[in-house]
Amino acid sequence: MSRYIVKGNSKLEGEVNISGSKNSALPIIAACILNGGTNILYNVPNIKDTNGMFEILRDLGCVVKKKGKKIIINSENINKFHINEKLMREMRSSVIIVGALIARFKNAIFSYPGGCEIGARPIDLHINGLKKLGINISENTRYIVCKCDKIIPAEIQLDFPSVGATENLMLAAVFTDGETIIRNVAMEPEIIDLQNFLNRMGAKISGAGSNIIKIKGVKSLKEVSFNIMPDRIETGTFLCYTAMTGGKIKVNKVNINDVSPILMKLEEAGCKIEKKNDYIRLDGPKRLKAIDIQTLPYPGFPTDMQSIFLSMLTTAKGTSIITENIFENRFKCVPELVRMGAKISISNSCAIVKGVRKLVGAEIFATDLRGGAALIGAALMAKGTTMVENCEFVERGYESLETKLRNLGVDIIKER
Ligand code: UD1
Repeated sequence: MSRYIVKGNSKLEGEVNISGSKNSALPIIAACILNGGTNILYNVPNIKDTNGMFEILRDLGCVVKKKGKKIIINSENINKFHINEKLMREMRSSVIIVGALIARFKNAIFSYPGGCEIGARPIDLHINGLKKLGINISENTRYIVCKCDKIIPAEIQLDFPSVGATENLMLAAVFTDGETIIRNVAMEPEIIDLQNFLNRMGAKISGAGSNIIKIKGVKSLKEVSFNIMPDRIETGTFLCYTAMTGGKIKVNKVNINDVSPILMKLEEAGCKIEKKNDYIRLDGPKRLKAIDIQTLPYPGFPTDMQSIFLSMLTTAKGTSIITENIFENRFKCVPELVRMGAKISISNSCAIVKGVRKLVGAEIFATDLRGGAALIGAALMAKGTTMVENCEFVERGYESLETKLRNLGVDIIKER
């Protein structure tokens, strides 16, 4: 495991370009399986999770070539339907490959997916939806086997607007003989990106961005090139780092609308924000004001920003209450923040954060992706030097984080 060594009392100043979205790239990479041809993806972030997805595709028989940010995926010669167990355990989004495999081959075998341990993260909504599409599913202690002669169009009602289940079912239903309607779907911007990608291939999908998606089955899909949307969580992360250090930043290559729930909260905390075309300027105040936050499915406040806001509010003036409604285990960075002098108490799904003047540097341990990013934020504000151990978690989702931070004036190095 490696660590970041971060000098505190930092102030972010300058400009940063936002990378492509992790959560859009992952299902789109999986969707490249569908047409059995060559697809070209641009703006794919070079992070652990996308590389993990390429490994799974290669293991199935795909050829994946990287030319900088251009990724060429050929899925013609897939020769097995069993998703590699070890690779699958490393990443939860690998479950979306099931939808693509079953749509193309009527066959998929997989084990329970892994990912950051931020909650129970079951896959019942995926399984129930796939069953509605006529897929036979049998489970044993190690594997889940999905098989069918034909995928049939269906009406599906999700109990909860799960991002992954929505994406999986969109892929699985793409080649049916009729229309599939999925209600109470996730409305995240990444779902719109997936719809745009699939429709460019020739799929007939409508409704992404609303809570009902309709998928008219097609016979085949063609080869495409596609540009992945900007990462809204990386955008929010740089804005928070700047807000918490009283800095000034211009964040380029962003989709302003996608981050509006984040911008509203940063303004409420006292930041000055200017938005234009594809950039956002943020000017952080001397000291932020306490605010309350509740995570909700999009367009509510994103759970992926919760830890970073929590870390930011540890030094705000007043008491903030943060309610986590999506993942039950997403306060894992709290004990580490407390070691740095933060005053946080947890009661069920709420964190009560009493703002202190200053955190102090310490040796702290990242335990998940966004929690790790939150600890780096705390390190930026703290007095003295902080060692953030287990950088690998952060590298799952942030491209060149330390280089980008160094360009913004931060003294940060990575040590292996
Ligand atoms: C995706 C994102 C993740 C984000 C999350 C919520 C990707 C690669 N990851 O994860 O960054 O934090 O959306 O915005 O896009 N659930 C069930 N049964 C299921 C599926 C989900 O109970 O079958 C529950 C989960 O345990 C969780 C909630 O639904 O409590 C949300 O999960 P979901 O929207 O599926 O998140 P992911 O797709 O895993």
